[in-house]
Formats: sequence, structure tokens, C-alpha cells
Amino acid sequence: MTPSLSIEESRPLAAEFFKKIGLLTGGGDCPGLNAAIRAVVRRAHQLGIGVFAVYEGFKGLVEGNVAPFPLRQASGILHVGGTILRSSRFNPFKSKENLQALRQEVKKRGLQGLVVIGGEGSLRLACDLTRKKIVRCIGIPKTIDNDVYGTDVTIGFQTAVNTATEAVDKLHTTAESHNVVMVVEVMGRHTGWIAASAGLAGGADLILMPEKRLNEESIRRIILNRHARGKKFSIVVVAEDARVVNNRGRVVVSMPTSRDDYGPIKSSGVGEGVARLIRRLTGFETRVVVLGHVQRGGSPTPEDRILATRFGVLAAELAAKNKWNRMTAIRNGKILSVPLNTVTGRIKKVDPGLYRLANYFFG
Ligand code: F6P
Repeated sequence: MTPSLSIEESRPLAAEFFKKIGLLTGGGDCPGLNAAIRAVVRRAHQLGIGVFAVYEGFKGLVEGNVAPFPLRQASGILHVGGTILRSSRFNPFKSKENLQALRQEVKKRGLQGLVVIGGEGSLRLACDLTRKKIVRCIGIPKTIDNDVYGTDVTIGFQTAVNTATEAVDKLHTTAESHNVVMVVEVMGRHTGWIAASAGLAGGADLILMPEKRLNEESIRRIILNRHARGKKFSIVVVAEDARVVNNRGRVVVSMPTSRDDYGPIKSSGVGEGVARLIRRLTGFETRVVVLGHVQRGGSPTPEDRILATRFGVLAAELAAKNKWNRMTAIRNGKILSVPLNTVTGRIKKVDPGLYRLANYFFG
């Protein structure tokens, strides 16, 4: 079970801390968040910085759900998935009152800045809070989607790819035993990083992802060619936001969306659309597996634990040196920091070379 912080147990931060910062996790959870939390708290403590735990993302800062983060509670969590700080998708800019409450909480706690462990959305909020001089932030990029611009890899991505690859491996045996086309729908928001990586690692016979729109005819040809070679099954990996077009370029399969009072709701289901299409185009029995939130769970891989630790340590060091408005990043194996405002408002798409590589093995 995930150990959680207890507000009652926590004692006020010692007076000798020369600086105080808040620490939060925002957006969807992923493996490796606790490893990053541990690293920030441990390194900050060594540098004389007191850390306040902000619960449930920016919502916690607005609602005053904030408490000192004692060192001992950053212990025993390195290998645990999820986030002991909990998380939410909450935008404090949506109301003036919320923004005012956030400002007051920062002042009340005497926070000189925030470390925000988040994906594209939370990092954008961190950037806006810094730019509007509400509170200065340092970002740590995390998301299974790996779509944060400015870093080669985000925390959580490598574990999600492991999980998805393992699923593809397992589905291979059933597909082969029963002569079926197996469509595996993976997450990834508007990019196909998980699809391309797990598809490549799992030997997918076709990968569909947002960066590469395929038409019905190519899909039909790839599957039929494979079966003409004597193969009796296929594995098709589909990213949740992939689209298929017909010969006139009109989208015939895409993620189903509906609306409620808060706006559009995206849902899984593109895999089902692709499966229907394959059945119609080829006549082969086609089954669908939606991996869903399984991809966000589990214990982080060693790569994610190490990446999260490197990012967390750097974030604490940046805070000690008053280097705000930065995001930790990894580029070509080197850990560094980049200005937050240069990476937000855009997403990192899949390198076409990765897709080309996978493409050699299609059909
Ligand atoms: O950003 C992580 C992610 O898991 C995406 O891959 C997916 O589109 C989305 O979050 C799902 O979000 P929710 O859990 O809010 O449905």
C-alpha cells in the first residue's frame, strides 16, 4: 500500500532553514513521482531548505491543504508508484478567488517558491504563476505520454512502455493460438510515444499514432500481405488519439468524444473503431484490448527511479541557488535545466525516425 503523509504527525519546520519551498504533483499520476518527491525533500534538507507538502496539486494550495514535509516521511517511497502527495487536474487561473487564495497561502507559509512535478498542463500553470509574479516555480517533467518539450524523456514514460510491451508480449501468444488480429489501444494523449516505443519493442505488425495518419487502404494491404505470407495473426498497436482516413482523406476512425457541463470528454474507444475497420476490410476475427490506466500504475523501473532522483536533486539545487523559472531536463544523457517558458505551450512529437524504424517490420 502507498504510504501517505500524516498532517497530524508532521512537526513545524525547524527555524534554521534559510528558505522554504512548496512541493506538489499535478495532473495524472505516473510511476516515479515518489522517487522525485524523495529526492527533492532529501536534497533540499541537506541544503538547508524546508519543504512544505502541497496535497492534491494546485488545488491544495488554493484550499490550504499544505503541511511541513518532515524528512522521515520521504523515506521508503522510492519504489512505490503513484504519489504520496496525491494529485489533481486543477487550474487556479479559472477564478480570481482561487488565485487570491493561492497567493495568501504562499504568503502565510512564507514560501519563496514551488517545485511543481507535472506534465505539460501543470508546467504551463507553473510558468504562468512565475511570469505573473504570483509564485516562482521550478518544474520537473513527468508523464507517461513523454510529450513534454525540451527534455528527451519524462518521468514515468519508461515504466509505461515496459508495461505496454509486457502486455503486447502476452497478447502475442493468444493472438497466435487463436488466429486473431489483436488491437492493443495504449494511452499517450496527442502523441504516439508509447505506441511507437511499445510497438517497436513488442514487434507490432502495425502501429497507428497521431503523428502518422494512415488510410484504410494501407491498413488493409499491410494486414493482408502479412497473412498472405502465411502468418495467421497480427498485432496492431493503436495510440488513443490516432486517426484513420479514407481514400479521400476524410477521418473515418478517431477517438470518440462526448460533452458534459464542463466541456468535451475524451474516452478510450479508438481501438474498437480500428478493430471494426479491420474486420470490415479483411474479414479476419479481430479483438481489442484497452490497456488504460494500468499504464500509469506499478513500481517505477530502475531507469525511472534514477531519472526522477536526478531531476529531484537538481530541482532542489536550483531552488537553493534561486534559479526559478527553470525545468529540469535530460538531453543526450545529460541532466540540465531549461527555461520553463521555452518548453510550455508546445508538445514534443514522436521522432519520425522511430516510426520509420518500426515501419520496416510492419506487415
Ligand atoms: O497524461 C496521462 C494520461 O494518462 C494520458 O495518456 C491520457 O490521455 C490521460 O492521462 C487520461 O486522463 P484521465 O485519467 O483523466 O482520464
